[in-house]
Amino acid sequence: MADTHDSNHDKQTGDRQGVSTMTDTADTQSAPPSAASSAKKRRTGRKSKVRRAAALLGALAVVGGMYSYATPSNAESNASANQTEMMKTGQGLYDKTCITCHGANLEGVKDRGPSLLGVGAAAVYFQVSTGRMPMTRQEAQTVRKPAKFGRDDTLALAAFIGQYGGPEIPEVSNEAIKNANLAEGGELFRLNCSSCHSFVGAGGALSSGKFAPSLKQASPVDIYAAMLTGPQNMPVFSPNQLTDEQKIDVIAYVKALQDTTDPGGANIGRTGPVPEGLVIWLGGISFLLICTVWIAGKS
Ligand code: HEC
Ligand code: HEC
Repeated sequence: MADTHDSNHDKQTGDRQGVSTMTDTADTQSAPPSAASSAKKRRTGRKSKVRRAAALLGALAVVGGMYSYATPSNAESNASANQTEMMKTGQGLYDKTCITCHGANLEGVKDRGPSLLGVGAAAVYFQVSTGRMPMTRQEAQTVRKPAKFGRDDTLALAAFIGQYGGPEIPEVSNEAIKNANLAEGGELFRLNCSSCHSFVGAGGALSSGKFAPSLKQASPVDIYAAMLTGPQNMPVFSPNQLTDEQKIDVIAYVKALQDTTDPGGANIGRTGPVPEGLVIWLGGISFLLICTVWIAGKS
């Protein structure tokens, strides 16, 4: 919005400059060499023409100025019209696919689904874009699966449910991730996330058949939205616990984990030296046993 304002402003000053240069050139043109009265008449005639032209341009500049003030509100009303349209689409989708479990007024349905009042666009975006919602059957835990809805429909659902409050869909730029503090992110991850998702984001079991999933597939916006909305057993990380900047650091760290390859061969879940030793021990003993049996068979 600031942009359009600025460019309009430039245009306006440009027009003003145009006015002054026009009058200047007109003035020099209207200075005739002779002192004849007819020439003088013509001169005043020309001068009034110049004045009229200047007045016209001045009026245009004023209209232009008013337009520059009118434009942002126009853009705003367009955006809100767009928003209303999206909410309508979202409501249509909701009534078709979500209403049976979340209720006609988003109040929730007993033994089927929780209330969605105030969960926010971020929660809807997270649940729908990771394919968790719409849930297909009652299960201990929804899992990530291919999303049922495309981006536009997901945003429409988020706009419809998000109108009742709650966190907005977060934005994460690649630039911000690039400039994040990875070391700080790693520290915060180990403090806040690793107890459930393991040190390397591989995930882990929780109580009563629930689990924290692997973070391998989560996009930056998924990670941000998960921290904002705390799906299922995951806590919400409020700005008091992790500031926006710290959340970006954590996201950058998870991205780095996702991008890390294992140059040493199979990573065995990156769980550390004990399981690695176990694998070598079991494999080695089996190999020796086979050798022994083979040698014994020969003799
Ligand atoms: C078969 C029932 C069912 C259907 C259909 C369903 N949901 Fe859900 N939904 C649930 C249950 C159960 C939970 C809570 C379980 C969980 O969080 O894993 C839930 C949780 C959610 C949450 C998280 C709420 C929170 O507190 O963070 C959102 C958002 C959501 N659903 C949106 C939707 C949308 C949007 C649709 C339609 C596209 C939908 N659901 C369809 C059963 C359903
Ligand atoms: C108390 C355990 C717990 C803690 C602590 C926790 N999570 Fe989670 N997390 C979960 C559970 C459980 C789910 C699955 C929720 C679901 O399926 O609805 C989850 C899901 C996620 C997902 C979605 C993964 C996907 O691919 O769909 C992301 C991303 C995530 N967590 C990131 C984090 C980050 C980052 C932190 C630390 C700031 C964190 N979690 C801390 C339990 C936890």
